[in-house]
Amino acid sequence: MLAIDNLVVSYGKIDALHDMSISLEPGALTTLIGANGAGKTTLLKTISGLMKPKSGTITYEGTSLIGLEPHEIIALGIAHCPEGRRVLARQTVYENMKMGAYVRNDDEVGEDIEYFFKKFPQLEGRRHHLSGFLSGGEQQMLAICRALMSRPKILLLDEPSMGLSPVLVKEVFKIIKDIHDEGVTILLVEQNAKMALSIADKGYVLEVGRIIAEDTAANLMNSKSIQDSYLGG
Ligand SMILES: Nc1ncnc2c1ncn2[C@@H]1O[C@H](COP(=O)(O)OP(=O)(O)O)[C@@H](O)[C@H]1O
Ligand SMILES: [Mg+2]
Repeated sequence: MLAIDNLVVSYGKIDALHDMSISLEPGALTTLIGANGAGKTTLLKTISGLMKPKSGTITYEGTSLIGLEPHEIIALGIAHCPEGRRVLARQTVYENMKMGAYVRNDDEVGEDIEYFFKKFPQLEGRRHHLSGFLSGGEQQMLAICRALMSRPKILLLDEPSMGLSPVLVKEVFKIIKDIHDEGVTILLVEQNAKMALSIADKGYVLEVGRIIAEDTAANLMNSKSIQDSYLGG
């Protein structure tokens, strides 16, 4: 569904991603695990058009994404839920949700917002509150709903568990699993390798800009070297 081949992305003279190749199968939950600084955010920003690659290809359902603007990529069906959530703090919960639908031109936006409010009653109770006053967990739910408001076929999630308590981490991973069960193709980027691999179909391991392992999530979980380096032994 999405094929990335030989991608090189740099900040000035320093390459952050070296010759990277990954692919997403339709409906699969693929995870990319790696330590801080490995290049995970850089990859997601490049897929969603926020960064331009130096070389390589990104092809989505046969269409090249290289050179497209972020709004064009969202309109094609790829939504990005960024690292650190980035909800608009001075906008209400409702306004943030509506913002997620800015590339749509159908008349079902209001219905979709109500659908997400039904699913996430914590958000519904705060629909007219400024988003900056929500807890970290609520902001993460809002950021995910905002991304889903574009009705994506592919959802890119950048460290959704970051900074959340263990209870909320479980809740957020349950939400991601539900989205996957509804048929959305997901690329989940995480430092929390254990949780990510526990819900993923397939995984890639990224080390300083290079893919060093690629396998089913189950095989990665059972690999001694992955356990030692990423799963706490
Ligand atoms: N704005 C930037 N300017 C220069 N270097 C950056 C910038 N953002 C990230 N980097 C570097 O690119 C590499 C990958 O970073 P990043 O994609 O944020 O990793 P991750 O998301 O896996 O923590 C790191 O070495 C980081 O220091
Ligand atoms: Mg990051």
